[in-house]
Amino acid sequence: KGKLIKLLLDVDTGIDDALALFYLAEARKKGEIEILGSTTVGGNVEVGQTTLNTLNIWEMLDLDIPVAAGAKQPLMAPLNPAPFVHGDDGLGNTFLSSPKKLPSDESAVEMILRLSHEYAGELTLLTTAPLTNIATALLHDPSLASRIGKVVIMGGAVFTGNVSAVAEANIANDPEAARIVFRSGMEMTLVGLDVTHEVFWEEQDLKELVKIANGRSAFLIQIIDFISTAYESLSGWKRCVLHDPLAAGVCLFPDLVKSEKRYVDVELNGELTRGMTVVDRRGRTPLGEENMNVALEVDAKRFKTQLMESLLTWVREG
Ligand code: RIB
Ligand code: CA
Repeated sequence: KGKLIKLLLDVDTGIDDALALFYLAEARKKGEIEILGSTTVGGNVEVGQTTLNTLNIWEMLDLDIPVAAGAKQPLMAPLNPAPFVHGDDGLGNTFLSSPKKLPSDESAVEMILRLSHEYAGELTLLTTAPLTNIATALLHDPSLASRIGKVVIMGGAVFTGNVSAVAEANIANDPEAARIVFRSGMEMTLVGLDVTHEVFWEEQDLKELVKIANGRSAFLIQIIDFISTAYESLSGWKRCVLHDPLAAGVCLFPDLVKSEKRYVDVELNGELTRGMTVVDRRGRTPLGEENMNVALEVDAKRFKTQLMESLLTWVREG
């Protein structure tokens, strides 16, 4: 086996972000990864709440991982939070009590820059949120790009959208930031809606979980149910779509997805298309300008099972 993956997470916790944290905590326990820190940003709900949620989830998992609070607002445009999808508290209206620990003294940007020096060339950055913190860190210090090992981004789409016909929430919430990140030269993989929409749980997938009657399963069932019901009212399907967990999975097991190396940019001005990820899939042009791997196919069954196993392990220990 290769070297241990050293992860830095940028999140807007959020129900599916929380599921990603549960999954990563289990991988850490198995000795597959190290989690060096987590930074938060406004997205699903405002940053004060995503910070509390991240602290609360680490506390539930009994993990002492620092949480550095980041940007309140996108670089240019106002934030469009999604309390109807994630709950007023971002965690399915479970209204957890205040976490025991406080956020770090350093800001998200400070944490990103510090860790990039301490682990130069070795960091895997996983982003499951608007890219405001990463863009701000790059604006502060463009040499950051050369110290990041690789970046896995939950965001964008080739053929679809969620907040609009063509735009995905994380990118649409801060398109200017996404453009800065996309043009940074870092090694990137885009895990977008084309693959994340393939990976979801429906009622029959939750059978094992509902059999276990304890506080841990009750919490998970409540958040999964909240987001599934919200998704049903938006799309007609009662599903918990596993966007952020899949991006986490790709950090650990890149072969969960098949990707193409492409040039991707972000539309900033379109009347109908602001926040769209524009993926150049022409065969020959612009050769040499490909800036990221774009995930197009996923082994959904393998990942769904793996993720549920991680959750069940934690639930059974409760
Ligand atoms: O579009 C899905 C993404 O937007 C996920 O990261 C979800 O948590 C929200 O941030
Ligand atoms: Ca998210």
